[in-house]
Amino acid sequence: MTLAEEISKRRTFAIISHPDAGKTTLTEKLLLYGGAIHLAGSIKSRKTQRHAVSDWMEIEKQRGISVTSSVLQFDYGGCRINILDTPGHQDFSEDTYRTLMAVDSAVMVLDAAKGVEAQTKKLFKVCRERRIPIFTFINKLDRYGKVPLDLLDEVEKVLGIRAYPMNFPIGIDGKYLGVFDRQKNRVELFAEDTTHGQSERISEIFAPDDEVMIKKIGRETYDALQDDLMLLDEAGETFDKAKVDAGDLTPTFFGSAMTNFGVQNFLEEYLRLAPPPAPRLSDDGVIEPDDEKFSAFVFKIQANMNPAHRDRLAFIRICSGKFERNMQVWHAPSNKIIKLAQPQQFLAQERQIIDEAFPGDIVGLFDPGIFGIGDTITDAAHKFRFEEFPTFPPEKFARVQAKDTMKRKQFAKGIDQLTQEGAIQLFYPVGMGNESFVVGTVGTLQFEVLQYRLKAEYGVDVLLTMLPFEVARWLKFSDGEKVTPASLRGANRGMFLLDRQENPVLLVENEWALGWITDNNPKLTMSATPFGGEL
Ligand code: G4P
Repeated sequence: MTLAEEISKRRTFAIISHPDAGKTTLTEKLLLYGGAIHLAGSIKSRKTQRHAVSDWMEIEKQRGISVTSSVLQFDYGGCRINILDTPGHQDFSEDTYRTLMAVDSAVMVLDAAKGVEAQTKKLFKVCRERRIPIFTFINKLDRYGKVPLDLLDEVEKVLGIRAYPMNFPIGIDGKYLGVFDRQKNRVELFAEDTTHGQSERISEIFAPDDEVMIKKIGRETYDALQDDLMLLDEAGETFDKAKVDAGDLTPTFFGSAMTNFGVQNFLEEYLRLAPPPAPRLSDDGVIEPDDEKFSAFVFKIQANMNPAHRDRLAFIRICSGKFERNMQVWHAPSNKIIKLAQPQQFLAQERQIIDEAFPGDIVGLFDPGIFGIGDTITDAAHKFRFEEFPTFPPEKFARVQAKDTMKRKQFAKGIDQLTQEGAIQLFYPVGMGNESFVVGTVGTLQFEVLQYRLKAEYGVDVLLTMLPFEVARWLKFSDGEKVTPASLRGANRGMFLLDRQENPVLLVENEWALGWITDNNPKLTMSATPFGGEL
């Protein structure tokens, strides 16, 4: 197969959702169709299966949540699919955001009864910034849900993206019986599920005016469907592939992941419409995926995934050319030539050593400590750097110190490792010595991960004191004067810190406090991320 053919069959995406919308269930069902797992988890066994598929860390097992993003690969209908899993719990990390830097499209899962929820909004925003195509799966159609037209309206109003329903629910007052497929012009009704969603299911298919179907759903429901469809045709969006590609129109599918209803159809339509690996911007212009010269970037680093050996993996997303085991590449930040040995790929349950990979693929590299998030690696004959990774504003803060001061060295080492991985952001309180740090994250769960990993991997018990601040601002005076606790009016209304590059940062409790600082420091400029790295 040529490089161009390999590229055209690849689809690399992430599923974004608010916790409990059904991301895990949908992922499992997609894997089921891809034959990657033979029996998708039933409701009862799902929790344990979930770990087998994508969880690594002990803390995940204990809490039944997925803390770290994982990568799953499978084949379907001639396509090679890479799903980059993002944590689905309430509190998430920068890792979640960064994963979205490595995908070419996103699938947004909504709960039909709940609509657009908080976390979906945050993740959606990152996808929108990147202008990648977003596909919507409105889940849990097997039970009571909001009125479909209201859901579409909510997507448009809350997220500011147009929605084009690819299918439309049949039913009155939120009790759904199936969907009308607008592409295939046919009715699909729920068939009785006797397998509890464990195996692929066939739903009942009817022509749009089939009398048997009309009898089945009832005349009133049928008429209501006709009204809705007419309304959609007359007043709804028209399907425009260019708008989908630009991330301005989201093809929207209604279905039920748990009962497999509409999942296969969704998968097939998604593969038809979703883009293959896209070109990327670099300091040497646009890099096309079919450029013969290899290039990739690191989007995630994870240490100690396997407790049996203390390994550290750097996950790279391949952007152009062909990856080959043991190949020599140029590592941009260190300006060194390095050999990529023991590359790993993730196929549902197990990791495998791989020999080759192509644009769109994700490869895990053993990392002796050279890689950092956002690093570019390229063929030595074509050196360039991809655009910088954005940093994301931390929203939760805690003071962290080692319980046992004798363990200060291991403590500092562990903190350093987690900072490099991008799991936490590190700050130094001004004038407090180096006994304690302030750590910032985008979600509180990261603190538990921090405590757990410092104990498990570095043998350090830490003392964690949550701080009441929710807003961090990097500070600069427009005339170049140094911002210090003394030169900043109202510095004591928050907490004055330095980041790792010794840039001044102020933590405050709310926007109101921020307003006060702004009003009282006319020459002050503030930024939610380090200057130069805004999202
Ligand atoms: P998440 O990864 O987005 O957090 O969601 P997950 O798939 O874990 O699903 C959350 C809950 O919603 C689960 O129930 C799951 O079985 C249920 N669910 C997912 N898809 C559907 C669907 O199409 N219809 C219905 N009715 N329910 C669905 P749970 O009881 O919280 O989970 P568990 O106890 O089975 O683990």
